[in-house]
Amino acid sequence: MEGLQDKLRRPLQDLRISVTDKCNFRCQYCMPADIFGPDFTFLPKEEILSFEEIERLAVVFSKLGVRKLRITGGEPLLRRHITSLISRLTKIEGIDDIGLTTNGVLLTKEAENLKQAGLKRVNVSLDALHDEIFKKINGRGVSSNVVLRGIEAAIRAGLGVKVNMVVQKDVNESEIIPMAEHFRDMGVTLRFIEFMDVGNTNGWNFQKVVTKKEIFNKLAAHFELEPVDPDYFGEVAKRYRYKDSKTEIGFITSVSESFCGSCTRARISADGKFYTCLFASKGHDLRNILRTYPDEGPLVDKIRSVWERRTDRYSDERTEESVRRKEKIEMSYIGG
Ligand code: GTP
Ligand code: 5AD
Ligand code: SF4
Ligand code: SF4
Repeated sequence: MEGLQDKLRRPLQDLRISVTDKCNFRCQYCMPADIFGPDFTFLPKEEILSFEEIERLAVVFSKLGVRKLRITGGEPLLRRHITSLISRLTKIEGIDDIGLTTNGVLLTKEAENLKQAGLKRVNVSLDALHDEIFKKINGRGVSSNVVLRGIEAAIRAGLGVKVNMVVQKDVNESEIIPMAEHFRDMGVTLRFIEFMDVGNTNGWNFQKVVTKKEIFNKLAAHFELEPVDPDYFGEVAKRYRYKDSKTEIGFITSVSESFCGSCTRARISADGKFYTCLFASKGHDLRNILRTYPDEGPLVDKIRSVWERRTDRYSDERTEESVRRKEKIEMSYIGG
């Protein structure tokens, strides 16, 4: 089968698969506790794709050009028997990279099993080392030590680890240097993520963003950094290396230097909807096709027609107005 290109000639290369909309954290910027409270209704079990359905989807996407899979949530390690899904996905022909993005809490328990299942690497979210700051951000009073132990367990198990830090003005800017020092000393890549206006509940505005330039200037006062060339077309993070070291840092600059021009990513929500942008308001249902037709044909046709019509470039076009106007899917539903 031939690879696909969208209207802006961007190939379909990466697939981010959300396996649950639940999470054990309540980060203010993603699942604020006042909205995602005890009465919040998550997706019912029967609406969530089974592992078999996810595998069927991944096989079809791989035939259409996808090389890279990322498992997300909510918190993907909350999905029961997630390691058995990983084992299935690692066997798919044409897939040469599988990652998982997690808040790290369950890694002490799962890291070894994930490695055994064939996972190569994890991206762990951690926004602060300072306990008071971190406990407030995660909304569940969890200490950063829990995540740090998870990171250590992943390294011990032989998984590649990168750490993601969402930087928010007046919330955790003070943690930029301590985080950089800590992970440089551990030889772990830390990526600074510009706070994005994902969803409709996180109270985002431009004033709350700390840009790559601002972060870089803070770092440059402490460390000598040199740029690193991208590894492949469409790489999300802009990478740098500490001089005289192999350790890298990265920036994910969706707000100040958007990267839609090389966006090769598709997303699948836990209930089987296909989204062509993180900021989309509408998905395309694949679950019904999966559950109606046993053969690949109808699925291939649908994916092809959606991707070939794709024109998304939300971050390139972001304005105060579009931020307010647009109805967007929530981060916890689509997994970033
Ligand atoms: P690697 O394969 O390790 O580079 O993973 P990744 O950076 O693509 O994935 P991860 O789940 O760690 O995401 C890091 C941050 O990048 C999150 O905040 C994501 O929401 C953001 N991100 C990933 N892809 C896109 C994208 O296509 N558009 C935008 N705006 N943000 C993205
Ligand atoms: N802006 C930027 N990054 C976010 N993440 C979650 N919500 C946001 C947001 N509003 C990050 C998480 C995780 C990754 C999947 O996305 O911290 O590292
Ligand atoms: Fe926080 Fe990630 Fe959970 Fe969202 S999915 S609440 S960012 S840990
Ligand atoms: Fe891709 Fe949409 Fe992100 Fe742009 S905003 S990089 S089109 S997912």
